[in-house]
Amino acid sequence: MKTPYYLIDENRMLTAMQKIKSVRDISGAKSVLALKCFSSWCAFDFMKDYLVGTTSSSLYEAKLGSEKFGGETHGYSVAYTDDEIDEVVSVCGKIIFNSLSQLDRHIDKAKIGGVSIGLRLNPQIGFSEYLLSDTVSRYSRLGVTKDKLPLDISDKINGAMLHMNCENEDFHSFNTQLDELEIKFGQLLQQLEWLSLGGGVAFTTEGYPLDEFSARLKDLANKYSVQIYLEPGEASVTESTSLVVTVIDIVDNEVPSLIVDAGVETHLLDALVYDYTPELIGADALDDKNSIPVDKINLANLYRVAGRTCLAGDIFGVYQFNRPIKIGDTLTFSDVGGYSMVKKNYFNGIKMPSIYLKKISGITKLVKTFGYEDFRDCLS
Ligand SMILES: Cc1ncc(COP(=O)(O)O)c(C=O)c1O
Repeated sequence: MKTPYYLIDENRMLTAMQKIKSVRDISGAKSVLALKCFSSWCAFDFMKDYLVGTTSSSLYEAKLGSEKFGGETHGYSVAYTDDEIDEVVSVCGKIIFNSLSQLDRHIDKAKIGGVSIGLRLNPQIGFSEYLLSDTVSRYSRLGVTKDKLPLDISDKINGAMLHMNCENEDFHSFNTQLDELEIKFGQLLQQLEWLSLGGGVAFTTEGYPLDEFSARLKDLANKYSVQIYLEPGEASVTESTSLVVTVIDIVDNEVPSLIVDAGVETHLLDALVYDYTPELIGADALDDKNSIPVDKINLANLYRVAGRTCLAGDIFGVYQFNRPIKIGDTLTFSDVGGYSMVKKNYFNGIKMPSIYLKKISGITKLVKTFGYEDFRDCLS
C-alpha cells in the first residue's frame, strides 16, 4: 500500500453504526448521514444497514445521497438557486429551507414535486467550543428565530430542523436544550410530522448514556407525535478512518521537523481550521503545536510533524514518539474520517492520497487513486 492514503475501516466504524441502530430500535429516532462530514461513498453499502439515508448541504450532495446511498434523501441548503431547485426536488423526499424567503421562493415547486417541506429553526441555544461552528451565535444566518415565525407557519411546513451542537459529549446539556426547545417551540411541534435535531451530538462516543438519550428521544417523539431524526456526521465515522503517510525528509531547526508526503492544508484541513492536533499512533501530542515549552524541547524523540506544502504553518503537531523516527518510516493519523476527505484539495499540486476500504470481512480494497490528470482537470 503506497502512501499517502486514507484507510476507511468498516470494522472500526461498526461500533458507531451499531449504536446508531440501537438508538433507532429503542427510541424510533432515525439517523441520516450528514454528507458534509463524510461522503466517501465506497463505505455506503456498509453504512446503509444502520442509517436510513442521508442529509445534504447542496444539490450535489443530495444527488450523491440519492444515487449512492438511497433510502431517505433529505435536502438542506443555506440557499438554493432557482436553477437547481427542480433537481433538488427530484432527488429528495424532504427539503428543509433555511429562511422564510427561501421557503416562499421554492414552496410551489416543492409542493408540485410532492416532497415533505421543512424549515430550519434557530433555537438561539446550543453548544459549540468554536465560534466558527456556533450556529446560534448573534447575527446567525442559519435558521429562523422564534420571533420571526409567522403564527400560521404550520400551514406551510411538515417538519423542522435544528442544528445547534458541535461535538457535544454532554447528555445533560443536550437534555436541557430539549427542555428549552419544548418551551419555545412546543406548540409548533404539536402541528408537525417530523423534527430533525441535526448533528453535533457525540452520542456514539464511549461512555455516552445511550439509554437515557434514547429514552429522552422516545418521550419527545411520543409527546408531540413526531418522527425524530438525527443527522450524525462525526458521530457516524468517529475512529473509522486513518491517514497514512511516509516521512520523506527531516529538517532540523532547534527541533527536528518530519516532512511527510501529505499536508495538513491539503489532506487534513479541519485540523488547521479548528487548530487541533490530530492523534498519531505511537506518539503523544504536545498541547500547543506553535510553541514548545523549554522543559520539553530536549525530550527524546520529540518531533514536529509537518506537511510538504509551502505553507509555513502546515504542521500536523508536535509529538513525542515512542521511538526515533527516520526517513522512510510510515506514520498513521488514526481518526480523520470526519471533515477531512470531504475537504481535500490540490493546493501546491501535492499528490492526492489514495483511498482504501477495509471491508468488514477483513479484505482491504484499493478503491481510488488520483494522478496528475485529476489535478490538471479540476481547473482549466
Ligand atoms: C445541518 C447540519 N446537520 C448535521 C451536521 C453534522 O454535524 P456533525 O458532523 O457535527 O455531527 C451539520 C454540520 O455542520 C449540519 O450543519
